[in-house]
Amino acid sequence: MAHQPDTSLPNRHRLVLGASGAGKSQLIRELVPAKGVRLLGWDTDDDHDGHHFDTRAGYARAVARGIASGRPFRLLWNGDNDLKTFEWWCDLAFIALDGRTPTELLIEELADVSVSAGRASPKFGQLIRRARKYNGGLTMASQRGTEISKTVYTQASEFWIGRQETTDIPRMARLAAVSEARLEAIEPLHYIRKRGPEITFHRLEFTAKGRKLTELTE
Ligand SMILES: Nc1ncnc2c1ncn2[C@@H]1O[C@H](COP(=O)(O)OP(=O)(O)O)[C@@H](O)[C@H]1O
Ligand SMILES: [Mg+2]
Repeated sequence: MAHQPDTSLPNRHRLVLGASGAGKSQLIRELVPAKGVRLLGWDTDDDHDGHHFDTRAGYARAVARGIASGRPFRLLWNGDNDLKTFEWWCDLAFIALDGRTPTELLIEELADVSVSAGRASPKFGQLIRRARKYNGGLTMASQRGTEISKTVYTQASEFWIGRQETTDIPRMARLAAVSEARLEAIEPLHYIRKRGPEITFHRLEFTAKGRKLTELTE
Protein backbone atom coordinates (compact mmCIF):
# COMPACT_ATOMS: atom_id res chain seq x y z
CA MET A 1 0.00 0.00 0.00
CA ALA A 2 1.28 3.45 -0.94
CA HIS A 3 0.14 4.69 2.43
CA GLN A 4 -0.18 8.36 3.11
CA PRO A 5 -2.18 8.79 6.31
CA ASP A 6 -4.31 11.91 6.52
CA THR A 7 -5.68 12.37 10.01
CA SER A 8 -8.02 15.17 8.85
CA LEU A 9 -10.26 12.82 6.81
CA PRO A 10 -13.80 12.46 8.22
CA ASN A 11 -15.08 9.27 9.84
CA ARG A 12 -17.73 7.86 7.51
CA HIS A 13 -18.14 4.41 9.08
CA ARG A 14 -21.76 3.35 9.41
CA LEU A 15 -23.59 0.42 10.98
CA VAL A 16 -26.98 -0.89 9.85
CA LEU A 17 -28.84 -3.00 12.41
CA GLY A 18 -32.05 -4.95 11.90
CA ALA A 19 -33.66 -8.38 11.98
CA SER A 20 -33.70 -10.53 8.87
CA GLY A 21 -35.98 -8.84 6.32
CA ALA A 22 -35.76 -5.43 8.02
CA GLY A 23 -34.21 -4.05 4.86
CA LYS A 24 -30.50 -3.78 5.70
CA SER A 25 -29.14 -4.92 2.36
CA GLN A 26 -31.60 -2.80 0.40
CA LEU A 27 -30.65 0.26 2.46
CA ILE A 28 -26.98 -0.38 1.83
CA ARG A 29 -27.65 -0.58 -1.89
CA GLU A 30 -29.11 2.90 -1.56
CA LEU A 31 -26.41 4.37 0.72
CA VAL A 32 -23.30 3.12 -1.04
CA PRO A 33 -22.68 4.53 -4.53
CA ALA A 34 -23.41 1.92 -7.20
CA LYS A 35 -20.84 3.26 -9.63
CA GLY A 36 -17.71 5.33 -9.87
CA VAL A 37 -16.08 4.24 -6.62
CA ARG A 38 -13.68 1.61 -5.44
CA LEU A 39 -15.57 -0.95 -3.42
CA LEU A 40 -14.41 -4.04 -1.61
CA GLY A 41 -17.18 -6.14 -0.12
CA TRP A 42 -17.75 -9.07 2.21
CA ASP A 43 -20.97 -10.33 0.64
CA THR A 44 -21.35 -14.05 1.32
CA ASP A 45 -25.08 -14.06 0.43
CA ASP A 46 -24.66 -12.31 -2.94
CA ASP A 47 -26.81 -9.34 -1.97
CA HIS A 48 -24.86 -6.76 -3.97
CA ASP A 49 -23.88 -6.09 -7.55
CA GLY A 50 -20.29 -6.46 -8.68
CA HIS A 51 -17.76 -9.16 -9.41
CA HIS A 52 -17.94 -12.00 -6.91
CA PHE A 53 -15.09 -14.31 -5.98
CA ASP A 54 -14.85 -17.44 -3.85
CA THR A 55 -11.14 -18.18 -4.08
CA ARG A 56 -8.56 -16.13 -2.23
CA ALA A 57 -6.10 -16.16 -5.12
CA GLY A 58 -8.70 -14.97 -7.61
CA TYR A 59 -9.89 -12.22 -5.32
CA ALA A 60 -6.41 -10.97 -4.41
CA ARG A 61 -5.46 -10.90 -8.10
CA ALA A 62 -8.58 -8.91 -9.00
CA VAL A 63 -7.86 -6.40 -6.21
CA ALA A 64 -4.28 -5.94 -7.39
CA ARG A 65 -5.46 -5.46 -10.98
CA GLY A 66 -8.18 -3.06 -9.91
CA ILE A 67 -5.73 -0.89 -8.00
CA ALA A 68 -3.21 -0.95 -10.88
CA SER A 69 -5.94 0.11 -13.36
CA GLY A 70 -6.60 3.35 -11.49
CA ARG A 71 -10.30 2.90 -12.29
CA PRO A 72 -13.34 2.26 -10.09
CA PHE A 73 -14.13 -1.35 -9.20
CA ARG A 74 -16.59 -3.46 -7.16
CA LEU A 75 -15.04 -6.67 -5.93
CA LEU A 76 -17.05 -8.84 -3.60
CA TRP A 77 -16.25 -11.97 -1.60
CA ASN A 78 -18.87 -14.73 -1.57
CA GLY A 79 -16.72 -17.68 -0.53
CA ASP A 80 -16.21 -19.17 2.94
CA ASN A 81 -18.04 -17.30 5.70
CA ASP A 82 -15.79 -17.94 8.70
CA LEU A 83 -13.63 -15.85 10.99
CA LYS A 84 -10.33 -16.94 9.50
CA THR A 85 -11.39 -15.99 5.99
CA PHE A 86 -12.86 -12.72 7.27
CA GLU A 87 -9.55 -11.84 8.92
CA TRP A 88 -7.78 -12.50 5.61
CA TRP A 89 -10.32 -10.28 3.79
CA CYS A 90 -9.92 -7.44 6.35
CA ASP A 91 -6.15 -7.53 5.96
CA LEU A 92 -6.41 -7.42 2.17
CA ALA A 93 -8.95 -4.58 2.33
CA PHE A 94 -6.65 -2.56 4.59
CA ILE A 95 -3.65 -3.10 2.34
CA ALA A 96 -5.74 -1.96 -0.65
CA LEU A 97 -6.29 1.52 0.85
CA ASP A 98 -3.85 4.04 -0.56
CA GLY A 99 -4.69 7.12 1.49
CA ARG A 100 -5.89 9.12 -1.52
CA THR A 101 -8.59 7.25 -3.41
CA PRO A 102 -11.86 6.99 -1.46
CA THR A 103 -12.68 3.32 -0.97
CA GLU A 104 -15.99 1.85 0.17
CA LEU A 105 -15.69 -1.19 2.41
CA LEU A 106 -18.91 -3.17 2.68
CA ILE A 107 -19.44 -5.88 5.30
CA GLU A 108 -22.67 -7.92 5.34
CA GLU A 109 -23.87 -9.97 8.31
CA LEU A 110 -21.06 -8.97 10.63
CA ALA A 111 -22.35 -11.11 13.53
CA ASP A 112 -21.54 -14.26 11.51
CA VAL A 113 -17.84 -13.42 11.74
CA SER A 114 -17.77 -11.81 15.19
CA VAL A 115 -16.11 -13.60 18.08
CA SER A 116 -17.95 -11.78 20.85
CA ALA A 117 -19.30 -8.42 21.91
CA GLY A 118 -15.82 -7.66 23.26
CA ARG A 119 -12.69 -6.73 21.38
CA ALA A 120 -12.74 -6.96 17.59
CA SER A 121 -10.69 -9.74 15.96
CA PRO A 122 -7.18 -8.43 15.14
CA LYS A 123 -7.40 -7.65 11.43
CA PHE A 124 -10.97 -6.41 11.60
CA GLY A 125 -9.90 -4.22 14.53
CA GLN A 126 -7.03 -2.82 12.46
CA LEU A 127 -9.34 -2.11 9.54
CA ILE A 128 -12.04 -0.36 11.54
CA ARG A 129 -9.62 1.67 13.65
CA ARG A 130 -7.32 2.77 10.84
CA ALA A 131 -9.32 2.83 7.57
CA ARG A 132 -10.50 6.44 8.04
CA LYS A 133 -6.97 7.86 7.86
CA TYR A 134 -6.45 6.05 4.55
CA ASN A 135 -9.74 7.21 3.06
CA GLY A 136 -11.70 4.02 3.64
CA GLY A 137 -15.34 4.13 4.75
CA LEU A 138 -16.93 1.02 6.24
CA THR A 139 -20.62 0.18 5.84
CA MET A 140 -21.52 -2.76 8.07
CA ALA A 141 -24.75 -4.70 8.53
CA SER A 142 -25.78 -7.06 11.29
CA GLN A 143 -28.94 -8.81 12.44
CA ARG A 144 -27.88 -8.87 16.05
CA GLY A 145 -26.51 -5.65 17.45
CA THR A 146 -25.71 -7.47 20.68
CA GLU A 147 -23.33 -9.96 19.03
CA ILE A 148 -20.86 -7.62 17.41
CA SER A 149 -17.75 -6.04 18.88
CA LYS A 150 -17.96 -2.92 21.03
CA THR A 151 -15.18 -1.52 18.80
CA VAL A 152 -17.78 -1.14 16.05
CA TYR A 153 -19.91 1.07 18.31
CA THR A 154 -16.99 3.27 19.30
CA GLN A 155 -15.75 3.66 15.70
CA ALA A 156 -19.00 4.13 13.73
CA SER A 157 -20.24 7.70 13.22
CA GLU A 158 -23.68 6.79 11.89
CA PHE A 159 -26.22 4.13 12.90
CA TRP A 160 -29.28 2.99 10.96
CA ILE A 161 -31.64 0.97 13.14
CA GLY A 162 -34.47 -0.99 11.54
CA ARG A 163 -36.96 -3.56 12.79
CA GLN A 164 -35.44 -5.65 15.59
CA GLU A 165 -35.79 -9.08 17.13
CA THR A 166 -37.80 -8.75 20.35
CA THR A 167 -34.84 -9.62 22.58
CA ASP A 168 -32.73 -6.82 21.07
CA ILE A 169 -35.32 -4.07 21.49
CA PRO A 170 -34.23 -2.70 24.89
CA ARG A 171 -30.59 -2.26 23.91
CA MET A 172 -31.27 -1.03 20.37
CA ALA A 173 -33.90 1.46 21.62
CA ARG A 174 -31.24 2.91 23.93
CA LEU A 175 -28.80 3.15 21.03
CA ALA A 176 -31.38 4.87 18.81
CA ALA A 177 -32.50 7.10 21.69
CA VAL A 178 -36.17 6.22 21.13
CA SER A 179 -38.68 4.47 23.37
CA GLU A 180 -38.94 0.68 23.24
CA ALA A 181 -42.56 1.10 22.06
CA ARG A 182 -41.40 3.29 19.16
CA LEU A 183 -38.84 0.71 18.06
CA GLU A 184 -41.30 -2.18 18.48
CA ALA A 185 -43.66 -0.42 16.07
CA ILE A 186 -41.12 0.08 13.30
CA GLU A 187 -41.94 -1.58 9.97
CA PRO A 188 -39.61 -3.26 7.48
CA LEU A 189 -37.78 -0.74 5.28
CA HIS A 190 -38.18 1.97 7.94
CA TYR A 191 -35.11 3.13 9.84
CA ILE A 192 -34.03 5.39 12.64
CA ARG A 193 -30.78 7.16 11.82
CA LYS A 194 -28.51 8.36 14.59
CA ARG A 195 -25.61 10.64 13.77
CA GLY A 196 -24.02 11.98 16.91
CA PRO A 197 -26.86 13.61 18.82
CA GLU A 198 -29.08 13.93 15.71
CA ILE A 199 -31.96 11.44 15.31
CA THR A 200 -33.98 11.25 12.08
CA PHE A 201 -36.54 8.80 10.66
CA HIS A 202 -36.42 7.39 7.14
CA ARG A 203 -38.31 5.07 4.83
CA LEU A 204 -37.13 3.18 1.76
CA GLU A 205 -39.67 2.82 -1.04
CA PHE A 206 -39.62 0.89 -4.26
CA THR A 207 -40.97 2.83 -7.21
CA ALA A 208 -41.09 2.22 -10.95
CA LYS A 209 -37.80 4.15 -11.17
CA GLY A 210 -36.09 2.16 -8.44
CA ARG A 211 -35.45 2.80 -4.75
CA LYS A 212 -36.14 6.05 -2.97
CA LEU A 213 -35.06 6.94 0.54
CA THR A 214 -37.15 9.67 2.15
CA GLU A 215 -36.92 11.37 5.50
CA LEU A 216 -40.11 11.25 7.54
CA THR A 217 -41.35 13.99 9.80
CA GLU A 218 -42.53 12.75 13.16
N1 LIG B 1 -37.92 -4.69 -5.46
C1 LIG B 1 -38.53 -4.69 -4.27
N2 LIG B 1 -39.76 -4.17 -4.14
C2 LIG B 1 -40.37 -4.16 -2.96
N3 LIG B 1 -39.85 -4.64 -1.82
C3 LIG B 1 -38.64 -5.17 -1.88
C4 LIG B 1 -37.91 -5.22 -3.10
N4 LIG B 1 -36.71 -5.80 -2.84
C5 LIG B 1 -36.72 -6.09 -1.53
N5 LIG B 1 -37.86 -5.71 -0.96
C6 LIG B 1 -38.22 -5.85 0.47
O1 LIG B 1 -37.05 -5.63 1.22
C7 LIG B 1 -37.05 -6.45 2.38
C8 LIG B 1 -35.80 -7.30 2.48
O2 LIG B 1 -34.77 -6.45 2.50
P1 LIG B 1 -33.29 -6.91 2.77
O3 LIG B 1 -32.52 -5.67 2.59
O4 LIG B 1 -32.91 -8.09 1.98
O5 LIG B 1 -33.38 -7.33 4.31
P2 LIG B 1 -32.20 -7.73 5.30
O6 LIG B 1 -30.92 -7.50 4.58
O7 LIG B 1 -32.37 -6.84 6.48
O8 LIG B 1 -32.45 -9.18 5.64
C9 LIG B 1 -38.23 -7.35 2.29
O9 LIG B 1 -39.18 -6.83 3.19
C10 LIG B 1 -38.65 -7.23 0.85
O10 LIG B 1 -40.03 -7.35 0.79
MG1 LIG C 1 -29.37 -8.74 4.09
